[in-house]
Amino acid sequence: ASLELGLYSHFMQKEIHEQPKAITDTAEVFLVGGFEPANFGINAAAIFERIRSIKILACGTSYYAALTARYWLEAIAQIPTDVEIASEYRYRKVIADPEQLVITISQSGETLDTMEALKYAQSLGMQHSLSICNVMESALPRESELVLYTRAGAEIGVASTKAFTTQLVALFGLAVTLGKMRGLVTPEEEEQYTSELRLLPGSIQHVLNLEPQIAGWANQFAAKNNALFLGRGIHYPIALEGALKLKEITYIHAEAYPAGELKHGPLALVDQNMPVVVIAPNDSLLEKVKANMQEVAARGGELFVFTDLDSEFTAGEGVHVIRTPRHMGVLSPIVHTIPVQLLAYHTALARGTDVDKPRNLAKSVTVE
Ligand code: G6P
Repeated sequence: ASLELGLYSHFMQKEIHEQPKAITDTAEVFLVGGFEPANFGINAAAIFERIRSIKILACGTSYYAALTARYWLEAIAQIPTDVEIASEYRYRKVIADPEQLVITISQSGETLDTMEALKYAQSLGMQHSLSICNVMESALPRESELVLYTRAGAEIGVASTKAFTTQLVALFGLAVTLGKMRGLVTPEEEEQYTSELRLLPGSIQHVLNLEPQIAGWANQFAAKNNALFLGRGIHYPIALEGALKLKEITYIHAEAYPAGELKHGPLALVDQNMPVVVIAPNDSLLEKVKANMQEVAARGGELFVFTDLDSEFTAGEGVHVIRTPRHMGVLSPIVHTIPVQLLAYHTALARGTDVDKPRNLAKSVTVE
């Protein structure tokens, strides 16, 4: 294992650092092939023309990729999109819609609940399916009509990192492809999306260079028993993913909330023992997020803010700020995933937990 790890201490750290390459490789699908349905299979154009809505089914981190993608699919392609935990979907009475595209997202392609959810949808007459998967020829792509493989390479750490960010790239590419087919993406916008995809690996590398600063925060987290993660809009799923990473590998209880829901419950938990991580890039919701942060500060809560270069924040008593070096526009959730991965990783190091093999968890859950 030490040979494979090279300079890194754990597979998780190595895989976090492989993200510029994993994202370059996955973005290449669209940078070389264009935002074209053919990237998803030879029948994709005809199928994409037929579908009226999307249902995404997944588990764990892949489910959070689905939640993020919904924002792109509705904003860029204007397709009504539902996202559901596979183990819930498969056991409820579903209203079948043959014009719905069923998308499964899975790193391994072997998660039993996701597989059974897909088969359930098919049994109800939903024949159009797309698998976004990282493992060639695994069960889910074999069972699906269409497939797009993420090119993250083998992921060994139980907590998913590079698989997640490459899933996001694939799903963004899907949203632009569908938007273009529906005449909703102008050539200028397409060029803009292309250039943002090209810039993405470099921006990720900039964030990776913040590792020492983030490790500095981790020491403060290591002594806590709880943490709250806040985000709004498309960054809310990133807050969810940040809380999941922290839970999985540090065993610190963490919860994520859409920041606007703070006053409907979690604010009651805020005191100096509850660090509050805020994903707060400069988007249209920034002023709202700042107001939510005031609510935390007023209760003596300590804020750890991830923002970007062009948003005004002053660090000070009880407010810590780390800035990602560029504002990334539509791809901002991908960039803002990196800091929460690093925060969980370094907090786990400080606590001495088994980073790559957290207790009670498995890389691939092929049983119920
Ligand atoms: C397990 C893994 C997670 C993963 C989830 C879904 O819980 O520990 O990292 O997100 O399964 O796996 P999949 O392979 O379907 O993406």
